[in-house]
Amino acid sequence: MSTIFPRWMNAIPTATAVLGFGALVTVAAGITYYFTPEYWRVGYEPVQPVDYSHQLHAGTLGIDCRYCHTHVEESGHSNVPDTGTCMNCHTGVGEQAYLERSLWQAHLENPNLVKVREAHATGEPIRWRRVHKVPDYAHFNHSVHVNAGVSCYSCHGRIDQQAVVRQVHGMGMAWCLECHRNPEDHLVDTDEVMVTDLNTVEQLLASADQPERGLALAEEHQLQPPQNCGACHY
Ligand code: HEC
Ligand code: HEC
Ligand code: HEC
Ligand code: HEC
Ligand code: HEC
Repeated sequence: MSTIFPRWMNAIPTATAVLGFGALVTVAAGITYYFTPEYWRVGYEPVQPVDYSHQLHAGTLGIDCRYCHTHVEESGHSNVPDTGTCMNCHTGVGEQAYLERSLWQAHLENPNLVKVREAHATGEPIRWRRVHKVPDYAHFNHSVHVNAGVSCYSCHGRIDQQAVVRQVHGMGMAWCLECHRNPEDHLVDTDEVMVTDLNTVEQLLASADQPERGLALAEEHQLQPPQNCGACHY
């Protein structure tokens, strides 16, 4: 018998099992990774009907997020502005306050702004493509978070540096819970800064004394981010 099946062959079933298990783990890890929101949602950056830039408006011009996303502090839903909001400045006259006469003509003829004025004249809304979306079976409320001292920065990143809005966090359940377990890493004082100056917020949150400051804020405002299923699924 032993001459037909040499001794070393005894290792074959074990080796096969080990290899097979390794392959399974690899496949499972691959599936988990590729089907995770971090993989397929981060970087999502749809082409918009008008080249509207946050980098220009929120960054360079320094317009407050709430000038356009007017309901974000009072409502669960953060609205996208209608064309009327753009027309506060883009009537062709409003820009004069910002622009030199020499720049104004080109500005008036800018094809993107022509689209905006046309949309306003016809009453046909600009159909912005939605970037961030949690599934309907999960409940998310903006005002709760903003009023608790979570800056737009913590969830949307440096929007003020984006020419085109891009999703920077996967926003899956694990992401929500990660912050709910340790909110102190993400809390800033609920003053103006957290909405108007994302650069300062970024620096504050990266500084060494953040956890301590965050814990004090969580205590002061008695924050209790829920981890029970029913809080987000109902
Ligand atoms: C002058 C108006 C204006 C200002 C100011 C503004 N936004 Fe926006 N925002 C828009 C418009 C219009 C859209 C929809 C088009 C797009 O996605 O670029 C939008 C889209 C967004 C989106 C993506 C929405 C989606 O579809 O998921 C986020 C997030 C956002 N804004 C955050 C901010 C933050 C944070 C600030 C302040 C730093 C800010 N915005 C300032 C007009 C504005
Ligand atoms: C508070 C005033 C203000 C509001 C509100 C505003 N804009 Fe602007 N926008 C400006 C100014 C000022 C410029 C020109 C900056 C420059 O050319 O340096 C500009 C430039 C632009 C440009 C041209 C960028 C380029 O290519 O030169 C577009 C397109 C534009 N805005 C779209 C919008 C849209 C869409 C909205 C509404 C969601 C909006 N703006 C709301 C002030 C505003
Ligand atoms: C705690 C995380 C968090 C914070 C803080 C946050 N957002 Fe959001 N934002 C989200 C999520 C999650 C969505 C998708 C919501 C949904 O699908 O109902 C979203 C969606 C949006 C949208 C798109 C809404 C739509 O219907 O098109 C806008 C605009 C927006 N956020 C702006 C802001 C602004 C401005 C701030 C700061 C004042 C802010 N967000 C703060 C997580 C956050
Ligand atoms: C960066 C931190 C952070 C992230 C990310 C975050 N949250 Fe929260 N969330 C908080 C804090 C802080 C509170 C506590 C508010 C309080 O106690 O007043 C809270 C409270 C809540 C509440 C209870 C209040 C309510 O609306 O009924 C719900 C539900 C909730 N979050 C859902 C979500 C969901 C869903 C996501 C992911 C899409 C999410 N959160 C992501 C920080 C976060
Ligand atoms: C802080 C809010 C929050 C809490 C608490 C929470 N979930 Fe979720 N859950 C979400 C969000 C947001 C999604 C959507 C994820 C996505 O977009 O892929 C989700 C998705 C799911 C899904 C779909 C599959 C998946 O993983 O994406 C299941 C199942 C689920 N949750 C079950 C639960 C159970 C069971 C609990 C309690 C142990 C729970 N959730 C607690 C926010 C929450």
